[in-house]
Amino acid sequence: MAISLAHTTLLSRTSLFLSRNSRSLAFCIPFSTSSSSAAASSLPSDKLHRNKWRSPVASVLELGGVKIGREDVMRDDPTNNVPDTIFSKLGMQLHRRDQHPIGILKNAIFEYFDTSYPNKFDKFDDLCPIVTVKQNFDDVLVPADHVSRSYNDTYYIDAQSVLRCHTSAHQAELLRRGHTHFLVTGDVYRRDSIDSTHYPVFHQMEGVRVFSPDDWEASGVDATSYAAEDLKKCLEGLANHLFGAVEMRWIDTYFPFTNPSFELEIYFQEKWLEVLGCGVTEQEILKRSGKTNNVAWAFGLGLERLAMVLFDIPDIRLFWSNDERFTSQFSKGQLGVKFKPFSKYPPCYKDISFWINESFTENNLCEVVRGIAGDLAEEVLLIDNFTNKKGMTSHCYRIAYRSMERSLTDDEINELQWNVREQVQSKLNVVLR
Ligand code: DAH
Repeated sequence: MAISLAHTTLLSRTSLFLSRNSRSLAFCIPFSTSSSSAAASSLPSDKLHRNKWRSPVASVLELGGVKIGREDVMRDDPTNNVPDTIFSKLGMQLHRRDQHPIGILKNAIFEYFDTSYPNKFDKFDDLCPIVTVKQNFDDVLVPADHVSRSYNDTYYIDAQSVLRCHTSAHQAELLRRGHTHFLVTGDVYRRDSIDSTHYPVFHQMEGVRVFSPDDWEASGVDATSYAAEDLKKCLEGLANHLFGAVEMRWIDTYFPFTNPSFELEIYFQEKWLEVLGCGVTEQEILKRSGKTNNVAWAFGLGLERLAMVLFDIPDIRLFWSNDERFTSQFSKGQLGVKFKPFSKYPPCYKDISFWINESFTENNLCEVVRGIAGDLAEEVLLIDNFTNKKGMTSHCYRIAYRSMERSLTDDEINELQWNVREQVQSKLNVVLR
């Protein structure tokens, strides 16, 4: 979901950098303030192994990521809403694996920028996903009452820090540090629904380019038009690099951090596909970064969304699979190799109905389901919704359970569903029907 009108994007606090420390040590290193907790605590392997139906768990380091301390994320704070399922994904850094579709796509985008603008763009792909509310939201002018700031949409560590919900969270700080051409790639986190294209962790790439008066003055057009034209040319070139000669269209839209703002769509496999959001950076962001005489453009794109189309990957959960039948199909530098499903295991559907209360949200329900079923939860779909004469509202959700890797037994699904029913009742305070 784009942080547009419907869903904001965010960033906060003095940014933290992840350092990949050869084997055992890895830290969240604060950028400018002293480290809160840089201890290299081990992953909660007991929690990771708790659910016997999850795919075999290897440590983040074995898988090629970095380690983030549990105490840096799972705080005993009333605002903390980060579950184990999310903590276990932190530091996985799929975008830094050259053989993984997300890493292959990132490298292909780098290739485009390196060819079109040799030695121009600084690349960051190891910035810590723990950011301040200020970085995530305030610095990119997300309004105080924007829905994306809510606990329902964003993972809060405490009242001042969050798991970044977009890579735009790093824009302001990098501008302040003097970078004028940069690409930021990273994992981002959003509380969300469950279906084949939504997962609470995904990857984005942000691009920013700053211009000086010299750049536009000779052109005869105003600074904003100059930046917008350059932006469109750059991104059309990128779309051609990734998708070949495709038809494209620009849609006017809204983002808090750009004006004008656009979305790029391409016509691919007989459908219009939204590729990215972008625009001319709000002058206020540049001003606060000490760049009053400049103009800039910025874009943000979701890597999973594009990789699903380019590699024919039918379900977003597959990106997290360590099953060799998935991982062995991709190699470094091979963009767009079509994924061959190794087998399709049957889904199992279970319905759950309850009277909702005022605080009920679908995101909270999905969090409960993911907490119990993990990646076995394929979809949670509202199939019935009515309000009776007394004003009580009932929802019925159909949960699809399916493993990407094997057949599930009736017994295990029944146990999952039983636990879901129990926790939906106890954690969400709704009345089962
Ligand atoms: N941050 C936006 C999102 O997550 C994407 C985006 C849109 C980034 C426009 C940008 C931009 O830098 O200019 O939905």
